[in-house]
Amino acid sequence: MSVSYRSDATDTPDWTGIPAMPALANGWALGRMSALDLHAVAEIESRAYTHPWTRGNFENSIKAGHMGLTLRDPLGTLVAYAVLMPVVDEMHLLNITVEPHRQRQGLGRLMLAVALATSHTHHLHTMLLEVRPSNTGALALYLEAGFVEIGRRKGYYPAAGNAREDALVLRRAWPGGEDAA
Ligand SMILES: CC(C)(COP(=O)(O)OP(=O)(O)OC[C@H]1O[C@@H](n2cnc3c(N)ncnc32)[C@H](O)[C@@H]1OP(=O)(O)O)[C@@H](O)C(=O)NCCC(=O)NCCS
Repeated sequence: MSVSYRSDATDTPDWTGIPAMPALANGWALGRMSALDLHAVAEIESRAYTHPWTRGNFENSIKAGHMGLTLRDPLGTLVAYAVLMPVVDEMHLLNITVEPHRQRQGLGRLMLAVALATSHTHHLHTMLLEVRPSNTGALALYLEAGFVEIGRRKGYYPAAGNAREDALVLRRAWPGGEDAA
C-alpha cells in the first residue's frame, strides 16, 4: 500500500471547527512516546533540525509529564512525532517533526490535527507554539491550520554561528464545545 497519508487518508482537516481526531489509513498507528521510542526519535530529530533536541531533552520532557505522540506507518516505522505541554488552561506545542524523507506528504498536517484533537480531549482549547520566521514551511502549515501570530520573542533561538533568531509566537483557540470541562 502507499505510505502517503495524503493519498490514503480522508480529507484535509477542517481547521475552522473544534479539532477532531483524524481518521488514519489502514495500518497507520498513533502512540504515546515512551523510553522505547527515544532512540528513533532522537535520530530523526538530529536530521530534521539544525539545532535539534537531544535524546536527554526528550527523556526529560516525558519525565516532566509532557505528552509525546508518535505516528508509525504500516511497516511500524516511526515517521512523525509531537510533544505537547499542558500549562494551566493552554496546550503548548513544543515539538512537531516529520522524518525528513517523509516530509511534504501530508504527515505534518496529520500530526498537527492529532495534536489539536489531543489538546481538545484534555479540555484545553488553546494551543500556543513558537516558530522561527525562517521556517516558512512550518509557518505555512500553522497559518493554514488557523494559528495567528500574537507576538515575537527576540533572539529566542540559536542560529548559525553565534547568532540568534527571533521566535514568532502563534496561537489558536477554539470553543470548548461538549468536551469542555
Ligand atoms: C514542518 C513539518 C512538520 C511539516 O510536515 P510535512 O509533513 O512536511 O508537511 P505537510 O506535507 O503536511 O504540509 C502541509 C502544508 O504545509 C506547508 N508546507 C509544509 N512544508 C513546506 C515547505 N517545505 N515549504 C513550503 N510549504 C510547506 C504547505 O502549505 C503544505 O501543503 P501542500 O504540501 O499541500 O502545499 C516538517 O517539514 C518538519 O518536520 N520540519 C522539520 C522540523 C520543524 O521545523 N518542525 C516545526 C518546528 S516549529
